[in-house]
Amino acid sequence: MQFRKSAFRGFAGVAAATALLFGAGLYSLNVSAQPKLDIHFVPTPHEVVKRMLELAKVTSTDVHYDLGSGDGRIVIAAVKDFKAKKGVGIDLDPQRIKEANENKTKAGLGDNVTFQNQNIFETELKEASVVSMYLLTSINIRMRPKLLAELKPGTRIVTHAFNMGEWKEEHNESVNGYQVYLFIVPANVTGKWELSEGERKIALDLKSEFTDLSGTATINGKSSDVKGGRITGTKIEFTIDVDGKPVKFEGNWDAGTITGTGAAKWTAKKA
Ligand SMILES: C[S@@+](CC[C@H](N)C(=O)[O-])C[C@H]1O[C@@H](n2cnc3c(N)ncnc32)[C@H](O)[C@@H]1O
Repeated sequence: MQFRKSAFRGFAGVAAATALLFGAGLYSLNVSAQPKLDIHFVPTPHEVVKRMLELAKVTSTDVHYDLGSGDGRIVIAAVKDFKAKKGVGIDLDPQRIKEANENKTKAGLGDNVTFQNQNIFETELKEASVVSMYLLTSINIRMRPKLLAELKPGTRIVTHAFNMGEWKEEHNESVNGYQVYLFIVPANVTGKWELSEGERKIALDLKSEFTDLSGTATINGKSSDVKGGRITGTKIEFTIDVDGKPVKFEGNWDAGTITGTGAAKWTAKKA
């Protein structure tokens, strides 16, 4: 009896230890399978999705990326309703990718829509001409250097609920109480330029910070501040003093050259 009791105790002990180990194993398996999300899934209401894509002016020439794509609704609407030529959703949570692919099938969409189980901070973005984000201001700000470095000037970014900190939006509005923002990736024109307008040469030392443009202009050895500087995608505007009078310059940046778009004919090249 004594033997039987201790044998039972021994068995019970081994069984309990096995259960504990097995449970712990399952727990650790479960925990390691959970991706570490920067923000949890909350879907953007459909009417807000529509307005975001309208603000971004999505057309058939666009490649749209949704960063943190959830159930895929923004990518699906961009391709199905706005005829974007390609849509890419990025989400770190495999469950969301599964749902997005199911929704893509239900929408009858093909190979031009893909959902990739990736971290947005490790995803190459240069192909996108439109980007949407429903994250947090802090995540948008962490993404900012990557957005500015990889996206082409003129790329439209629409965000739901959260802005980009010091990078000021081109537009914001409320859609049934949900705030949406439009940003346009500005050309980086920081550096020294030589502006030629007929015989006149103007040396520009420019500093661009998001959409703000400042610096100095030097004509015949006389320097003055660049005023009213602004960058909207590839569109550049600023005012400088010429012969004692303020003159506004408006131009378009393309591959490192700024070409005047107003009545006066001028170009600026990196010095
Ligand atoms: C607020 S939801 C937005 C979903 C969708 N864009 C929408 O507006 O309906 C944020 C999504 O980001 C995903 N997410 C969070 N951190 C991420 C990361 N570092 N990389 C990729 N996706 C992430 C979450 O899984 C979630 O689906």
